[in-house]
Amino acid sequence: MRKKRCLVVTGGGDCPGLNAVIRAIVKRSACEQDWEIVGSMDAFNGILSDPVRIMTLDLKAVAGIHFRGGTILGTTNRGGPFTWPVHREDGTWIAVDRSADLLRTLKQEKIDAIINIGGDGSQKISQQLFEKGCNIVGVPKTIDNDLSATDYTFGFQTAVEIATEAVDRLVTTASSHHRVMIVELMGRNAGWIALHAAIAAGAEVCLIPEIPYDIAKLRKRLKEIVEVEKGYAIIVIAEGAYSRDDLLRQTSMGDTGQRNMTPRGAGLRLMQELQQAGLEKEIRVTILGHVQRGGVPIAFDRILATRFGVKAFEMVMKGEFGRMVSFRFPDIISVPIIAAIKEYNLIDLDADIINSARGVGIEFGD
Ligand code: F6P
Repeated sequence: MRKKRCLVVTGGGDCPGLNAVIRAIVKRSACEQDWEIVGSMDAFNGILSDPVRIMTLDLKAVAGIHFRGGTILGTTNRGGPFTWPVHREDGTWIAVDRSADLLRTLKQEKIDAIINIGGDGSQKISQQLFEKGCNIVGVPKTIDNDLSATDYTFGFQTAVEIATEAVDRLVTTASSHHRVMIVELMGRNAGWIALHAAIAAGAEVCLIPEIPYDIAKLRKRLKEIVEVEKGYAIIVIAEGAYSRDDLLRQTSMGDTGQRNMTPRGAGLRLMQELQQAGLEKEIRVTILGHVQRGGVPIAFDRILATRFGVKAFEMVMKGEFGRMVSFRFPDIISVPIIAAIKEYNLIDLDADIINSARGVGIEFGD
């Protein structure tokens, strides 16, 4: 009798722990007689390519990969089966729905189930494929931790660790030069990395997308911190953070609700805003960027990723499709994918962690 085939897909930005999930799926499946695991290269692009690009995932292929960063399957955060980019001769491009091609190839390749490891964009694809009849299970991944219906996504704690170490290092320069050091961290929609790194590294100011900042108030507070209290200041800013003035500008432009702002450059923008507001201090900006996504996952993320992988495969065996694995301390449970994607997991301003941050004097600029 033919073995059933489970396809593993990694989509969106790379993230520490992806390989640990892949390995756990393969190792758990090896305890069963009737399943084999294959992986699509570069998200669903492998299935949409002609010829298809699929990799056999056996115990040998995944041996020792749990502490390797990135993904052995490759990934992309462009395109996808529902918005496949087709370039036109005039240099423009259009998005084409190639889901019918995808479903046909999945059938040809005798794929019985899919485990899609990815963040918000990838899980939206999971939901659409589920609605088209695919047997699909989601695994939540993103360093930003902005996916709902799970306490944590894997990769987030590693990013916090890297960001904290970077801020620690900048403190010595800030204090020696009596400077204001701005550190821009990732987090387009939610400020989880910035908030955690600010608390862990003892930053004076933390600016996150959930709290638009008041530049006049910030200038005044920074002056006090540098001149009276400490002699220097560290500002941690999430890439999606913006000032109240920016918010007003967006609203007055008749924006329809989608904030139409470039995510990168928040740190440099803040430096200009502070200088224009009259802060006469030396300011330097560090943009940590993709360093936060690279390298080995810390133990917490390896363990979470491993638990996610085991649970995802068990859900495949039980036929629990249209659902995503989720961490609800202390257990790994499953939730409908739709619950994870209906809104971003933003920081609740009444949350205890915000209270703790304010309790140690961290300024949010509100
Ligand atoms: O979603 C994770 C994330 O790291 C965001 O914080 C960031 O804005 C984005 O990915 C960067 O993606 P890219 O790899 O396309 O630069």
